[in-house]
Amino acid sequence: MTQQAAKTGVGPTVLVAIEQHFPEGVRIIQDSMAYQILPPGVKAYVWATRFPVVRDWMVKSAEKNVPGIWSGMMCRKRYIDDRVTEAVGNHVQAIVNLGAGFDTRAFRLPALDSVPIWEVDQPENIAAKAAGLRKIFGAIPAHTILVPIDFDHQELGAVLAAHGYVPNAKTFFIWEAVTQYLTEAGIQATFDFLASAPVGSRLAFTYVRKDFIDGKAFYGQDYIYQQMRVKDKIWLFGLDPEDIADFLHKRGWHLLEDIGYDELTKRYVKPTGRKLNSMAIERMVYAEKI
Ligand SMILES: C[S@@+](CC[C@H](N)C(=O)[O-])C[C@H]1O[C@@H](n2cnc3c(N)ncnc32)[C@H](O)[C@@H]1O
Repeated sequence: MTQQAAKTGVGPTVLVAIEQHFPEGVRIIQDSMAYQILPPGVKAYVWATRFPVVRDWMVKSAEKNVPGIWSGMMCRKRYIDDRVTEAVGNHVQAIVNLGAGFDTRAFRLPALDSVPIWEVDQPENIAAKAAGLRKIFGAIPAHTILVPIDFDHQELGAVLAAHGYVPNAKTFFIWEAVTQYLTEAGIQATFDFLASAPVGSRLAFTYVRKDFIDGKAFYGQDYIYQQMRVKDKIWLFGLDPEDIADFLHKRGWHLLEDIGYDELTKRYVKPTGRKLNSMAIERMVYAEKI
């Protein structure tokens, strides 16, 4: 199952790379690295979207199946970019990106240039990302440490320590579009590790609503339910927005913000003048270690 989940690693960066073919003034996110870091096979697909007719068709068909997916993927990246940039200016000494996939913020956000960042993912994605980075930079950038892991079966603290992570550094943890792929035990094991983070550390993560995972409410997202819950069975875990503050508190974290994609779409898409749906099944959490 985790192998299936590994295949999702490239998806968000593919969409971000396609987004770069929109005129600069209407892009929701600027990312000149997204295309470059993709594995060669995927690049051809993205290349074709430089033609507006192909790009518009691509966005339309993605939106037809999963309304709100486009804005959701762009906005969650923007939100985390903003929070991590702020936090680095505010004495965060390290970043750990859990399930980093092909995310590029370590290499495109100037504020992150001099902060060590551990990018953690399944071995196949780590190997592909390493190959992409070597191709772009000639070597893995010095501030980046790539860490292969399976969260469901390996101990995150031990694996990170083996890769030089020092647990007393105030850290920003990113967990973007990952929690739904983990078992409840995998989530708890990750929080067991996060419980030892220094006070003032930050955590930004997305989650899928539990009522959707449980098949009790579909929010107009029947297609993705069929794909992820019924066919591939790779979305496993969800949370109820009403429980978030308590869930985090019990695990040593204070909820700063639990924000829906309606709000994020207003914040990041509206100024571009584009009309895009937002999706209700996923939300974003920002928390501080207490
Ligand atoms: C939808 S992708 C998100 C990638 C990236 N965070 C982003 O938003 O661009 C989910 C990522 O979680 C990783 N993942 C899922 N289950 C995992 C597990 N058990 N151990 C390690 N990584 C896992 C996948 O390999 C994949 O890269």
